[in-house]
Order: sequence, then C-alpha cells, then structure tokens
Amino acid sequence: MPLNIDGCIEGSYQLIGGNFATAGEASTCLKLKLTELGVAETIIRRASIATFEAEMNVIIYAAAGWLHYYITPHGIKIRIEDMGPGIEDIELAMQEGFSTAPEWVRELGWGAGMGLPNMKKNSDLFKIDTVVGEGTTVEMVINIP
Ligand SMILES: Nc1ncnc2c1ncn2[C@@H]1O[C@H](COP(=O)(O)OP(=O)(O)O)[C@@H](O)[C@H]1O
Ligand SMILES: [Mg+2]
Repeated sequence: MPLNIDGCIEGSYQLIGGNFATAGEASTCLKLKLTELGVAETIIRRASIATFEAEMNVIIYAAAGWLHYYITPHGIKIRIEDMGPGIEDIELAMQEGFSTAPEWVRELGWGAGMGLPNMKKNSDLFKIDTVVGEGTTVEMVINIP
C-alpha cells in the first residue's frame, strides 16, 4: 500500500571519513523514520542494508560525504555523495568479494567486498557515478508497492 504522506519527506546527514564512532547513525535514523511512517518491514530491511553499506563506504574510503533521502508515497530514494578517491574500475568493485579495504579496516570486521553487490541487490534502482580523485555518488531507489 502506498504511504499515506503528503508529497515528500526529505533529509540529509553529513558523513565524516574515518569516524567509526558515529558510523551507522545516518542509516539508523532513516530506519527509525521509516518505522514511524509505518513502512513495511521487508522494505525497511532492504533500505537499511543498502543505506548502511553505502554509509560505511564513505566512512571507510572517503574524506567526507552526504547522505540525502527522499521518501514519497511510492518509494525511498537515497543519494550518497562523497569527496574521496573515486573508484578506478566500477565493474571490478561491483564484484562479490572484491575489496581494497586496508588491514586495519579488516581487523574491524569490514572489507568482505559485499557492500556494493548488497546495495544493488536490495534496491530496485541502483546507479553509481565516480570520478577518480574527486568522489563517488551512489543513487538507490527502493519502491513501496
Ligand atoms: N565511496 C567509495 N569511494 C572509493 N572507493 C570505494 C567506495 N565504495 C566502494 N569503493 C571501492 O569498491 C570496493 C568494494 O566495495 P564494497 O563492495 O562495499 O566492499 P568493501 O567495502 O567490503 O571493500 C572497495 O574495497 C573500494 O575499493
Ligand atoms: Mg563496503
């Protein structure tokens, strides 16, 4: 059932590279918002996984970034843009298990190389744009049937 909201609810969170202390806050806040709005649990789960993975990539690989979300009666749109190194080979980065995470990040339990594949799997629309030396933008849409 489409959400009973008027127009669109939107918001933004700032993300700081290397800041593991607050990592995951943006996706947790979005999850709370979706719960408040009464979005179906399966949709919330997909949105949370996709958003969390994208948020972590900014924390791990980039200097800083923004997470923007737009909730309409028919879906959730999430855009994560960062200022960072960019991705040299997107096709390779999209492969399950591919990771350039440094050792200290792996010691924290990250770097399984499943983030981008999981974002794609959990969204109905997935788009990634990157410029090496400038940054990366990921856009995802999760439909609300
Ligand atoms: N925002 C980003 N900026 C720069 N590189 C990125 C970004 N997101 C992903 N990457 C690159 O793509 C690879 C795969 O990402 P991902 O699938 O999330 O796995 P993981 O984070 O576990 O390495 C990363 O190891 C990194 O090289
Ligand atoms: Mg990742």
